Amino acid sequence: MTPDQRLRWLAKPAAFAACSAPLVVLAFRAFEVGGLTLGTNPVAELIHELGRWGLNLLLVTLAITPLRQLTGWPHWLRFRRLVGLWAFAYVALHMAAYAVIDQGLAWEVLVEDVLKRPWITIGLAGFLLLLPLALTSTRGWMRRLGRRWQTLHYAIYPATALGVWHFYWQVKQDVTEPVLYALGFALLMGWRWRHARRRAAATGGLATTAAVDARR
Ligand code: HEM
Repeated sequence: MTPDQRLRWLAKPAAFAACSAPLVVLAFRAFEVGGLTLGTNPVAELIHELGRWGLNLLLVTLAITPLRQLTGWPHWLRFRRLVGLWAFAYVALHMAAYAVIDQGLAWEVLVEDVLKRPWITIGLAGFLLLLPLALTSTRGWMRRLGRRWQTLHYAIYPATALGVWHFYWQVKQDVTEPVLYALGFALLMGWRWRHARRRAAATGGLATTAAVDARR
């Protein structure tokens, strides 16, 4: 086995362990294992941590293509689906913790929250955009949808933007952290935009060469 093959073989379980570690730590804190706790407001802490990790992993998912372009290691792409699904799982648990533990599935309150608190409406819109991506993440759906699969999965950009906005809007005082997340997101979008422009310019260049060749 070459070092590259060994790295590829180890990388997926390592990525799985890294993505699941925050959830394991949260479970330890929730059940007070080894003296760990969720602090004085455990439900709020649980909701916050799950939301935070959902957003962190959405940004990691978006960072995978730039990482591949920067390092030239093509196998980064193997982790995109895994990390993306974990991001969805954290966001879904975040929403479930709020709806089930915090609000006790009181539908009237939940509906009122969605209608009257715009930052919740925005969070829900982000979740609803992520849902079809998680459902169609299998190879079977990829085959069935063909080119439309890629178009559908571009929804991760608005979903992440809504997640950042939701974070910003629910903060009561210090907005430093959501602003840092917004900057990280803008940086990743800027990278993609620059790369897409370069690629378009290169293809345009090729097209021009082809046109010149055709005229000869
Ligand atoms: C893409 C979807 C979403 C993302 C990325 C996300 C992320 C976040 C983040 C990062 C926070 C702040 C955590 C902190 O302060 O440390 C947060 C707070 C919160 N989110 Fe979400 N969220 C999403 C969707 C939702 C949905 C669908 C709901 C409920 C229907 C929801 C309910 C809440 C609540 C109740 C809080 C706590 C607000 C407070 O303490 O005042 N989120 N979310």
